[in-house]
Amino acid sequence: MSLDSGKKFDMDEFYSEVSTDQWKQIIGETLHYHFGYFRGFEDLETGLRQTVRNFYPYIVPGSRILDVGCGWGGPANMLIAERDCAVTGVTCSTAQADYCRQLGLEVLRSDLDRDTEEIPGEYDLIFSLEMISHIRDKFEHLCRLRANAPRLIVSESCAVAGYAGERITYGGSIVLCTVSELIRDLEKAGWEIKFMRNRRFESLRTIALWKQNLDRVYGDREPPGQLGYLRALTRMALKSPIAWCHTNPLIDIVAEGRDG
Ligand SMILES: C[S@@+](CC[C@H](N)C(=O)[O-])C[C@H]1O[C@@H](n2cnc3c(N)ncnc32)[C@H](O)[C@@H]1O
Repeated sequence: MSLDSGKKFDMDEFYSEVSTDQWKQIIGETLHYHFGYFRGFEDLETGLRQTVRNFYPYIVPGSRILDVGCGWGGPANMLIAERDCAVTGVTCSTAQADYCRQLGLEVLRSDLDRDTEEIPGEYDLIFSLEMISHIRDKFEHLCRLRANAPRLIVSESCAVAGYAGERITYGGSIVLCTVSELIRDLEKAGWEIKFMRNRRFESLRTIALWKQNLDRVYGDREPPGQLGYLRALTRMALKSPIAWCHTNPLIDIVAEGRDG
C-alpha cells in the first residue's frame, strides 16, 4: 500500500482481530506490547516493566497522564499502581478499549490517523510507547498533542540515517521515520527535547523471547493476523541481530512544550 493510495489502513481491525488470549500467549499476561529493557537474562515481564520504570524519574507521582496508544493497558496499570497516577488511555482498537474498560481503566477509542478533532482533556504528561510509528502524519499528530499536556514521553522504533529500505512495513501498519525526522517533527511542533537515548541493544532480548513464544505456540503453523508480522520481524532481526540493531534504533525521548 502506498501512502497516497487513498486506501485507509484499518488500524482498529489490525489491533482487534487476534484475541486477547492469543496475544497473552506471546507477549505475556499483562499485555505490554513494546520492547523491554534487559541488563542480562531477565524474563520477558521483568524486561517490559523495566522499560516503563526507566521513565519514572520524569513522571511526578500523582500526575494526570494521557497514554496515547495505550494498547491493552500494560503501562497504564503500572503508572496507576506504582506512581499513583490518574491515567486516560487512547486506542484505535475496539477490542483493546473493551479489555481496558474491563480492567477499570479510563479509555477513549479513537483512530488518531482518521479522527481529526482534538483529544479532550488537559493532562500533566503524555505517555506514548511505540505508537507514533503507526501515524502517517507525525508532525500533525505531535502538534495536536501540544494542547493536551506540557510534557511528552515517547519511545519509538526508527530507521537509521540514510535508510533506503521500505518505509511502510509491518503489513502496512507502520510508516518508519528516521531519528532526525522524528526530532525535526518534534521540534517543529514546539516540543523541546530534554532527554534522548537509543536503547536498541538493551531491547534486543525482547525479540528472542517473542520468537520463543511464537515457536512454542505455533510451531510450523502461520500465526494469525498481526502475530504473523511479529514472527516475520523476529526472524528477520535474529538473522543478523547486530546489523538490525544498527539499522533500527529504538529512541526514548522526554520533551517539554515550548511556551507560545
Ligand atoms: C505497539 S502498540 C503499543 C501499546 C502500548 N503503548 C504498550 O506499550 O503496551 C501500539 C498501540 O498504538 C495504538 N494505536 C496505533 N495506531 C493508532 C491510531 N491510529 N489511533 C489510536 N491509537 C493507535 C494501539 O493502542 C496499539 O496497541
